[in-house]
Amino acid sequence: MAETKGSKEPPSTKQVVCRALSRVLLQAFIWIHQGFDYIVDIFCNWWYNESKRQIVPPVKDPLLLESAVSLAEKIRKKEVRSEEVVKCFIARIREVNPIINAVTDECFDEAIEEAQAVDAIVASRSEEELKREKPFLGVPFTTKDSTACKGVLHTLGIQARKDVRADEDSEVVARLKAAGGILLGVTNIPEINMWCESRNMLHGQTNNPYDTRRTVGGSSGGEACVIAACGSPLGIGSDIGGSIRLPCFTCGIFGHKPTTGLTPTRGLTLRTGEEGRTMVSAGPMSRYVQDLAPLLRVLIGEDKAVKELQLDDEVPLANLQVVYSDALGDIRASAMRPDMMEPLMRAVNHFQEISKLPVRKIHIKNMKYTFRLWHYWILKEPCDFSYELSNRKGRVDFWRELPLKLFGMSNFTLAAIVRLAMEAILPVEVPAWAEEKTNSMVKEITEILGENGVLLFPSSPMPAMHHYASFVRPYNFAYFAIFNVLNLPVTQVPMGLNAEGIPVGIQVVGAPNKDRLCLAVAKELQKAFGGYVPPFPV
Ligand SMILES: *[C@@H]1O[C@H](CO)[C@@H](O)[C@H](O)[C@H]1NC(C)=O
Ligand SMILES: *[C@@H]1O[C@H](CO)[C@@H](O)[C@H](O)[C@H]1NC(C)=O
Repeated sequence: MAETKGSKEPPSTKQVVCRALSRVLLQAFIWIHQGFDYIVDIFCNWWYNESKRQIVPPVKDPLLLESAVSLAEKIRKKEVRSEEVVKCFIARIREVNPIINAVTDECFDEAIEEAQAVDAIVASRSEEELKREKPFLGVPFTTKDSTACKGVLHTLGIQARKDVRADEDSEVVARLKAAGGILLGVTNIPEINMWCESRNMLHGQTNNPYDTRRTVGGSSGGEACVIAACGSPLGIGSDIGGSIRLPCFTCGIFGHKPTTGLTPTRGLTLRTGEEGRTMVSAGPMSRYVQDLAPLLRVLIGEDKAVKELQLDDEVPLANLQVVYSDALGDIRASAMRPDMMEPLMRAVNHFQEISKLPVRKIHIKNMKYTFRLWHYWILKEPCDFSYELSNRKGRVDFWRELPLKLFGMSNFTLAAIVRLAMEAILPVEVPAWAEEKTNSMVKEITEILGENGVLLFPSSPMPAMHHYASFVRPYNFAYFAIFNVLNLPVTQVPMGLNAEGIPVGIQVVGAPNKDRLCLAVAKELQKAFGGYVPPFPV
């Protein structure tokens, strides 16, 4: 007990020099990294010449700009027929899909038939009854290719599955259909959902509706894209490393990743639902925050919505303890851009004004380990990437696939090869270390947030990147993945567009089962700052 390091003895000259040197090296690395990011952007702007930028055309029918809950209400009140709504969105998909390439398979004929059946039901039932039993009656929706929908393509983006159709609905799709939703089709993803862009050898690349030279993010990228382009009012995503929030951020819409363990997983990326512990959650995606809670209720069931999440309880915003943080602390991620700091600080200042408790800035010290922790936990998932990539017929081997790719003969994208490399090359983390770090971070953050707190956190260091630029910025997704590691609920909130017309936004994070706080804060931010801004002038 006599030795308390460094408290009495002044540090030796050697120690002082070493510390100073490591600070200089660290700063040099940060500058070099920033310079590199800058050069990447200059290159992308030259390569993807501005004249090649396309945005989706304006909507012709104002119905396309309604929220899902408002469409449901109008259908119940017989102000509009479901058939008209469904046909309107189908026409919009046909209009925008050649530009964005988001929808990979459709079931339009069935959707129109279902809508006609709905209109017959509406004519004979009371509005109140319908609202209670089928809150989304007659409202069209979409989901990603990896979420099984009976009779619709379920390829996971790999060629060996190019004709595979699901033989039954995933649990979440079945629940939304039972609540009256009408499926229009499925949307593009990266292979087995494992990348932050939505591109595969089967369906090609999905383009951002705000700037087709940029990515839509991933893995629910086609989904966020078609919703932002007004081709669908409502979607179901799934999120194991940011797969709901990243594309919602990139395409400027709302998305919610629920507290882990609440949503059923049967039918998500070939899961049986019996796998046990997982970081994955299904969750709602929409342009309007008011759609999130009603769809969340449908996805998790009324019982969990009331008992576990108390979704009906009022959230007095003035009593919230709002905290914020502006960095992950991982120097391998890009430096935070001013156009991403700005929306975060706008939200901070807003809550500074409306809440009684001062908004505090916090620093969570182990966040810099996110990439390693996520890598540890993803290897514990039942989803085995190289096995799934072979369509469960063996394993796709990185050392065989790399030369094939170099000669343009591989059946997989560069993203899949990189992901295989990570599994083949990265060291496996020590379980005791990873679990201790994870648990201590969960403890730290839940203590800070308590019963009444939310964390405002950047979505990413930069808005939607150009296609392929993510390959030289592979660490940025950790801003999302940290909350999969920690199993916390998060709402992705769009906060308008930057000077180049690209969406920006923030994440609102809660303690476990405090989804309603995230959603209430998101609602307030939509009210204060306008939320979704369409890609086209209205
Ligand atoms: C982009 O392309 C247009 C037309 O092809 C050309 O006039 C312009 O100089 C190009 N811009 C850049 C930055 O290369
Ligand atoms: C690519 O896929 C096709 C069909 O699934 C298969 O016949 C072919 O052998 C594959 N190519 C390679 C290089 O594995």
